[in-house]
Amino acid sequence: MASVSTAAASLLTVALVFAFLARKRRRSTLPLPPGPRPLPFIGNALDMPSKEMRTAFREMNEKYGDIVYLDALGQPMIIVGSHEVAVDLLDKRSSNYSDRGSSAMIDIVGAGWAVTLLRYGEEWRRHRRAIHQYFNAGAVAQYAKSQKLETHRLVRRLIDDPEHFRNHLRHFFGSSALRISHGIEVDDEPVDYLKIADDAMDIFAAAFEPGKYLVEIIPWLARMPSWFPGAGAKRDGEVWRPIIYKMVSAPWDAAMEKMRLGTASPSMVKGLVEQMREDDGPDQLEVIKSAAAVTFAAGSDTTFSTMQTFFMAMTMYPEVQKKAQDELMAVIGPHRLPEKDDEPSLPYIQAITKECIRWRSVVPLNVPHRSLEDDEYKGYFIPKGSIIITNISAFSHDPIMYPNPDVFSPERFLKNGKIDPAVHDPATMAFGYGRRVCPGKHFAETSLFIVIATVLHTLSLSPVVGPDGQPIMPSGKMTHGLLSYPEPFQCDIKSRSSELEALIRSSCTNMQGVRAAQS
Ligand code: HEM
Ligand SMILES: *[C@@H]1O[C@H](CO)[C@@H](O)[C@H](O)[C@H]1NC(C)=O
Ligand SMILES: *[C@@H]1O[C@H](CO)[C@@H](O)[C@H](O)[C@H]1NC(C)=O
Repeated sequence: MASVSTAAASLLTVALVFAFLARKRRRSTLPLPPGPRPLPFIGNALDMPSKEMRTAFREMNEKYGDIVYLDALGQPMIIVGSHEVAVDLLDKRSSNYSDRGSSAMIDIVGAGWAVTLLRYGEEWRRHRRAIHQYFNAGAVAQYAKSQKLETHRLVRRLIDDPEHFRNHLRHFFGSSALRISHGIEVDDEPVDYLKIADDAMDIFAAAFEPGKYLVEIIPWLARMPSWFPGAGAKRDGEVWRPIIYKMVSAPWDAAMEKMRLGTASPSMVKGLVEQMREDDGPDQLEVIKSAAAVTFAAGSDTTFSTMQTFFMAMTMYPEVQKKAQDELMAVIGPHRLPEKDDEPSLPYIQAITKECIRWRSVVPLNVPHRSLEDDEYKGYFIPKGSIIITNISAFSHDPIMYPNPDVFSPERFLKNGKIDPAVHDPATMAFGYGRRVCPGKHFAETSLFIVIATVLHTLSLSPVVGPDGQPIMPSGKMTHGLLSYPEPFQCDIKSRSSELEALIRSSCTNMQGVRAAQS
């Protein structure tokens, strides 16, 4: 193996020399933004531990400022250090900053169909349009009734089987997403669609953990045989691709079959297929298939993380829970369950939702954007094709915007008992920027509100007590990956009121209601 490593090292040197020679002449007299030079990756490029990558960007911003330039083996990168700079570039100049980088990993995993990763352009626009039609604010309002009933089913499961709360949350989001995307009721199906999505998302998380795989930085590794050092991702890819593809094809085939049989309930797939016109061409089917799969995947796994953050926060901050329950008792009272329309009269619940979104990031490093044109900013030159890194997790812990950022404190969003418009809404960071901003934002926020309000009104959450009589507190830590989740923790869940529990149970006996509410 030693000789293989030596060969690899010399290949790397050759690549570096080429990268150096191929460097384009600078098209501007302006300086590049400050940053580490020479690039930090060279010395140990073949075994760069991902642990060091996990703080690398933040450290560069601390050292060089809010706009850092990095040349990663010929790939220009801009490391953005503040929300303000992110807004200036990605929002205000969005026509120039809405491309995505190509990554060897995308092909290795077989994920080129996902709108999240598509290059900026007409195809991307068609995918976005398809999703937007079902997730704009108006469309989302139509799901309120079905979301409410689904929330009651969730609460019933939490009461009957509190230990597996994480599974019930996963089920809630997966089942909501799949109903909208493909018109499939997971509980009625012999196929375990949620397991299929879970397996695929595990792969995404592992494959796109920033910096984990060297092919991200050295694309030619993807062309090396699988046994080549550092080409591990390629070997993994052979196992991964079929699992990812199953998430696309299994629900699609089922939805198509239901349409053929005339038994399909309303869904994104059904609606979009029926809207197809002659001049759309057969590739429109591919667009619908991909857009529906992305919806299923993103809808299942993103808001799910914030929901776990909510359970974690309530377990760790009993006084916050108490205040929320007092508000619910005063506004909703002991005889009914919360509705979407109650939202404006529940500012503390709104503040908890915002704080969950801020406190722990679902997509801590955002999905990187890429610039389409040479640009200049604050006297610096930003070359065309730069990858733009925005650390959402850092922005939402900015101590100037959010004093004591590590503390979970809904109060930070309130003034005189109302939402304080002067405090920055963390949703403007958490859901990304510009034309790439998350199209599921309204749906995520609506789902979070109804679940948080209903759970707090009907249940009490507390730490599990260990054998020594001491409460076992969640660590508060998050997993590492493109998508991030609270590390597994325990939580004791109890019904707060037999009257409200009875309301939940009677609502759940009308299971048809969920389906009826869908149309
Ligand atoms: C708390 C929940 C969620 C969070 C924090 C979140 C966050 C994000 C972020 C940060 C991005 C990248 C934005 C950028 O590039 O600047 C994104 C993109 C995306 N999200 Fe979400 N998301 C959530 C829920 C959802 C849901 C429920 C859906 C389902 C429809 C969804 C669908 C998408 C899609 C399709 C993209 C790709 C957009 C593109 O590249 O043009 N997300 N999301
Ligand atoms: C992003 O910011 C967070 C919060 O400051 C930090 O803990 C993390 O290490 C940063 N990530 C990178 C890759 O620099
Ligand atoms: C891209 O940025 C450059 C430099 O700021 C500007 O001149 C150009 O108009 C922008 N292009 C678009 C499409 O916005």
